[in-house]
Amino acid sequence: MTGAQALGGGVAAAVVDVRGLAKGFRGVTALEDVTFSVAAGETFGILGPNGAGKTTTVECVTGALRPDAGHISVLGVDPAADRAAVRERVGYQLQSAALPPALRVEEALRLFAAFYPAPADVTELLRTVGLDKHRKRPFAKLSGGQKQRLSIALALIGNPDVVVFDELTTGLDPQGRRDVRQLIQRVKDGGITVLLVTHYLDDVERLCDRLAIIDAGRTRFVGTPQELLSASGGNDGGAGSLEDAYLAFIEQPAGE
Ligand SMILES: Nc1ncnc2c1ncn2[C@@H]1O[C@H](COP(=O)(O)OP(=O)(O)OP(=O)(O)O)[C@@H](O)[C@H]1O
Ligand SMILES: [Mg+2]
Repeated sequence: MTGAQALGGGVAAAVVDVRGLAKGFRGVTALEDVTFSVAAGETFGILGPNGAGKTTTVECVTGALRPDAGHISVLGVDPAADRAAVRERVGYQLQSAALPPALRVEEALRLFAAFYPAPADVTELLRTVGLDKHRKRPFAKLSGGQKQRLSIALALIGNPDVVVFDELTTGLDPQGRRDVRQLIQRVKDGGITVLLVTHYLDDVERLCDRLAIIDAGRTRFVGTPQELLSASGGNDGGAGSLEDAYLAFIEQPAGE
């Protein structure tokens, strides 16, 4: 466990700490000021409109992108300074993950396992994510839900302390989403800290201890789902759904 102390928000020992994060891409400002921190074992949702900066944020957390300004600590390490250390302990499934079409499920896991000093057992992991029957199937022939299961397995292959899932349930049918949610629940029950980028408020309701809303490159809200319900200022303080609360929050002018 890291000894890093959070600066606020009631988080005792921050496993992921992001302060004042800024990042631009050749003239496009993607992030202006993103700040949140995640405690050990928490499942933390990251929400916000398309283009808000969610993927850019988690790519800075995994070390895939280097921030222009701000401070990030992951398990006490700065991902930009020591990407290798972070890569060993942070599993990630990024939004546009794609594998060579002919690569088979089990081959993919064995290939990625080779990058880690103490990888998970491939056979056991295949069983955990429900792909044991499809271990010989090439990536190109997997259904959307099976690809997502493989993504989860790839995120877990290094026995990480933290995992990042970016839009894992997007594009799945209700059954696929339920199955993937159950898998995330299992990851969460294993004590792994989870960063979950999602557009689905029911994912948040079922899985997340706290969430951040990022809008136009800035964190607009950090708190529990219950706090979002209260903050949205519903008429009687709670008649609406979490989705209503989220929409009310997003649609109010920035700065309020
Ligand atoms: N490599 C890049 N080059 C140029 N602009 C980029 C790049 N990556 C992201 N952007 C821009 O940065 C902004 C934030 O993008 P990002 O992918 O982080 O959004 P997001 O919140 O993940 O959106 P979505 O919900 O659609 O996945 C967008 O305006 C996007 O066009
Ligand atoms: Mg994204």
